[in-house]
Amino acid sequence: MIKTVEWTNEGVSMLDQRLLPTEEKYLILRSYEEVADAIKKMVVRGAPAIGVSAAFGLALGAKQSVGTSIADLEFDFDYMCEVMGSTRPTAVNLFWAIERMRQALRRAKEKTQDVEEAKQILVDEALKIYQEDLESNRAMGRFGGELLQDGATVLTHCNAGALATAGDYGTALGVIRGARDLGKRIAVIADETRPFLQGSRLTAWELSKDQIPVTLITDNMAGHFMKQGKVDAVVVGADRIAANGDTANKIGTYMVAVLAKRHNIPFYVAAPVSTLDLSILTGEEIPIEERDAKEVTHVRDQQLAPEGIEVHNPAFDVTPNELITAIITDRGVAREPYTQSLKKLVESAAVA
Ligand code: MRU
Repeated sequence: MIKTVEWTNEGVSMLDQRLLPTEEKYLILRSYEEVADAIKKMVVRGAPAIGVSAAFGLALGAKQSVGTSIADLEFDFDYMCEVMGSTRPTAVNLFWAIERMRQALRRAKEKTQDVEEAKQILVDEALKIYQEDLESNRAMGRFGGELLQDGATVLTHCNAGALATAGDYGTALGVIRGARDLGKRIAVIADETRPFLQGSRLTAWELSKDQIPVTLITDNMAGHFMKQGKVDAVVVGADRIAANGDTANKIGTYMVAVLAKRHNIPFYVAAPVSTLDLSILTGEEIPIEERDAKEVTHVRDQQLAPEGIEVHNPAFDVTPNELITAIITDRGVAREPYTQSLKKLVESAAVA
């Protein structure tokens, strides 16, 4: 099992994804500042993995607090939440996890005056978020695995696998693993996913490690292979899904969805309910992270473009709901009209 992020006695253990696929190195992060920095610098990435890491970071931060009262802890914790929340703007799982941790502190406050006990409640909540993530990916795998045909070739964009979650299964790749675990033979086409190369560096690495057949293509080849009838389905992850089903995911996802529609290929989004943001009505309201120009002009230290060239580098785009065949969640599969089906799933999550 690939372990993306873990809580240990020494601190938060994290696989440094910037070094993959050539080096497998785990870092031990000992403070909430180090965790926030790791999220910002993409040591860890992928919406659910960012959420789990933030929760662990806040648990570490609570342990760092030297305050002697719950009020002191609360004061420190508010500041840590600000720092954590300013790391990456698009993946809503980050804000969802911060809110879960804030609620845990509110519960702790009602229960105890003992700061150490309150800190333990925060550590337990972070561990719960971690565990739930592993379980929700398995559930998505079961629901989504049913939708794929035996012998299918599935195209995926970016990395929505074990590396984008707490570990083990992943979301979009969880659906592929779910189909495999149902005894279906599935092959994958992985888009390389410029500019950060999550497809070539991460998806190709983790699927090969798991012995799932994978073929790497550059992003501009997807249409060609769809036209040739070589793609049976597309499955991608999500960073934030609006109430109407509009979905933010890695830049280039929208292009793949348009191509899939053109070629009558089902386009599935796989994401846990923690990726749903029903407070926003459409994808227009999703904040899109703009990243450093160097990711476009360089690959690692190799310069590929003229010095000082003007660059755009949005990290995500929004796929409109009408291009999405179904949204596979850990609570079941949602279909159009998404405003109703997604709301229903969230309400079922609230009572479960
Ligand atoms: O910039 P990243 O690597 O954090 O972007 C990741 C993606 O866009 C994933 O597809 C998404 O988070 C889903 S991960 C299960």
